[in-house]
Amino acid sequence: KRTIYLTRHGESEHNLKGLIGGDADLSVRGKLYAESLANYINGQNIEGLRVWTSWLKRTIQTVAEIKAPQERWKALNEIDAGICEEMTYEEIQKKFPDDFRARDQNKFFYRYPRGESYEDLVVRLEPVMMELERQGNVLVVTHQAVLRCILAYFLDKPANELPYMEVPLHTVIKLTPVAYGCKCEFIKLPI
Ligand code: F6P
Repeated sequence: KRTIYLTRHGESEHNLKGLIGGDADLSVRGKLYAESLANYINGQNIEGLRVWTSWLKRTIQTVAEIKAPQERWKALNEIDAGICEEMTYEEIQKKFPDDFRARDQNKFFYRYPRGESYEDLVVRLEPVMMELERQGNVLVVTHQAVLRCILAYFLDKPANELPYMEVPLHTVIKLTPVAYGCKCEFIKLPI
């Protein structure tokens, strides 16, 4: 029996400003989460643990103090918001009102111009999910939209609910297989 640990990166400088996408560093609080996460994970002595991150700085910085072999997956990068990268939702609504409305009306299938949709993300994650199924204990440190896709896969959530699933910052999501499906625990870490 194995466990999958999932978490978002610690709070980033872009999270603080409400900017989506980009490749920002962790904020001061984000760095505290990195310490707290390392304390928690190192303290559990998880057998054969492996750590997966995206290619973005904020996930790599989040696992800096964790004592386990690490792998980087480009496929774990956050959804590409195309022309809307590094904007706030307010700026998007003002500059691209049609896109903002279209996304609100069909969040799973809406594709950002020169970017991705949640549907694209599900396809991009297929090889990651295949490999994740074959692994033992793993900690996956990635991003909000990506985690919604991974959680929906294990918890059998439909496409229309997927883009609205709650994935709070500074929280470890622990997935353990049970008879049918997965047990899912949310562990908010102190920072
Ligand atoms: O704001 C953080 C973030 O990870 C962005 O980088 C990303 O575009 C967004 O969340 C995804 O969430 P939503 O699909 O709800 O906009």
